[in-house]
Amino acid sequence: MPSFRAPRGTRDLLPDERSRFARIETIADQLANRYGYRPMETPLFEQAEVFERGVGEVTDIVEKELFRLQPRTDEGELWALRPEATAGIVRAYVQHGMHTWPQPVKVSLAGPMFRYDRPQAGRYRQFWQWDVEAIGDAGPGVDAELIELGLRFYREVGLADVEVLLNSIGDPVCRPAYLQELMAYYRARVAQLPETERARLETNPLRLLDSKAPAMATMNATAPKLIDRLCDPCAAHLTSVRAHLDVVGVTYRLEPGLVRGLDYYTRTAFEFYRRGAQGQQQALGGGGRYDGLVALLGGKPTPGIGFALGLDRVILALEESGGTAPVVEGRPLAFVVGADPAATAERLRLATELRAAGLSIRAELGTRKLGRQLESASREGAHFAVILGDELADGQVQLRDLEAGTQRVVPVADLIRELKRADASHRHG
Ligand code: HAM
Repeated sequence: MPSFRAPRGTRDLLPDERSRFARIETIADQLANRYGYRPMETPLFEQAEVFERGVGEVTDIVEKELFRLQPRTDEGELWALRPEATAGIVRAYVQHGMHTWPQPVKVSLAGPMFRYDRPQAGRYRQFWQWDVEAIGDAGPGVDAELIELGLRFYREVGLADVEVLLNSIGDPVCRPAYLQELMAYYRARVAQLPETERARLETNPLRLLDSKAPAMATMNATAPKLIDRLCDPCAAHLTSVRAHLDVVGVTYRLEPGLVRGLDYYTRTAFEFYRRGAQGQQQALGGGGRYDGLVALLGGKPTPGIGFALGLDRVILALEESGGTAPVVEGRPLAFVVGADPAATAERLRLATELRAAGLSIRAELGTRKLGRQLESASREGAHFAVILGDELADGQVQLRDLEAGTQRVVPVADLIRELKRADASHRHG
């Protein structure tokens, strides 16, 4: 037999880890609700062109990392698994005419994304993002609102040492002249450029700035910076975003080298890192403004901004900082056991009735002796054991309070009421 394993770069989330995810997803949901971002979903795969146009043809994500699906029929559509959420959400915005809704449309989405990346710690081929978007607001107030929301999420999950790096990457007015300057800078050093970077020089020189190739680090340190060459409206936008961040007490670091790995960005760009950890370390999250994306995907020109936070990296960071709360399993209110080991149907029937009444119940469905059944009940932390025995003939069961060590006979007809009363006083008292 072959030994089957989860594909490279993917992980099983076993129950303990799944419940850690659930905890931070709950925090994300509650925050989204508090800030007025409503959850939505998009398909896990889209026409590949949505990503090619949206994220950009000459990006790592599209060139190297897109999971393209093999077409099965002549339907003709080429699909790819979503590498990120923004392009799909904007596609949905256009498709459903959301420009007629009250603006901005504020949405959030938590789910798996797929990138055919080289797997390593914190870098997976299937990973989870919490994505938040505000479409139809040119800012700068919403820019600050989103950055503050991202930081608050980290604080609420228990990561206090997260800082935000901020930059502006201009717009179609000021960027073209800058790109010419950047190209000239790299052309003068073309002999030192690695192969991929040399190929990208003429098509997308901005990508060289966030290249991970070691040879690029020193060259990039002295490259011309867009932040010094912004047009007046872009410069004014950045000044105002900074003023809004000051008002909400968010400290940030201006990082002129921050360009992000996706092509749709304009103006505001930001990333979240654990303090003192950027550089070699990976971003916990990132985002920015994409004022051209809606039009690029076929809609009317509409501004937008958002971020995505990598949930796997949040969990890893929590583990590293010793901040993961112990997993609290839901303890059952009662465990149904029986004196006759073979009477599994009887135990299942009663447990089903109690569950139908909304109670958290386990039942012994094996055929172990009563003593062993009661051991399981204690091990699972049940408050009560419901013991089926001879009294059942008279419509009664034994109700043992495992915590108090007391036991009494209760009519089956009263059992639900008794257990509910105990459950309520247990929870609230
Ligand atoms: P991104 O920077 O490509 O942005 O990804 C956001 C976050 O997702 C990263 O900072 C990281 O935490 C996590 N992430 C990315 N790739 C991986 C991976 N292979 N394994 C684990 N975690 C990963 C975007 O995706 C944009 N859509 C963000 C955005 C939303 N911009 C505007 N709106």
